[in-house]
Amino acid sequence: MRNRRLAILLSGRGSNFIAIHEAIRRGDLNAEICCVVSNVPGAAGLRHARELGLACISLPSAGVGRVEYDRQLLAALRAYEPALVCLAGFMRILSPEFLKEYSGRVLNIHPALLPSFPGLHAQRQALEYGVRVSGCTVHFVDEGVDTGPIILQKAVEVIAGDNEESLSARILEQEHQLYWRAIALVLERQKTEPR
Ligand code: GRF
Repeated sequence: MRNRRLAILLSGRGSNFIAIHEAIRRGDLNAEICCVVSNVPGAAGLRHARELGLACISLPSAGVGRVEYDRQLLAALRAYEPALVCLAGFMRILSPEFLKEYSGRVLNIHPALLPSFPGLHAQRQALEYGVRVSGCTVHFVDEGVDTGPIILQKAVEVIAGDNEESLSARILEQEHQLYWRAIALVLERQKTEPR
């Protein structure tokens, strides 16, 4: 059985990271956050992780190419031996080298029902298209942008008068319920898989 250590990668506010941390604290998710990494040194999520006393890695990506950056990232993560790498608002595309090392063990959360509306501003894309239902998706990361196998999804209705902000807020509430459940599923599955 693999360990239950999670490396969290984030670039911004970190509310999904906090929701995962809370689920662990409540005892809903049997896992441990082994480190929080950010490519943005001033990210609010990283600050919060520091306040929580978690191991934090600030690895600025400005001006660093993808291959070189991911080499640094792999080196930084190695000591923590994470079972899963959880992207939580990490605004970078990972290189094939990185994904090879953590094959089938990198998760991401996206604020739309994939395969619809991948990429940036998913909530705005959904509103502009005129869908009546959007939502969020936790999926495995592959080499595409938001294209990997889906683990869990949650639908969120678009209501009359919704704007990007209101829809994003309702989707975010669901993201906070979804991500830790998807992590729990994957960890349970890994228990029975041959290494
Ligand atoms: C979330 O909407 C997530 O779906 C997307 O980036 C946003 C991150 O928000 N990938 P937060 O930093 O977790 O608050």
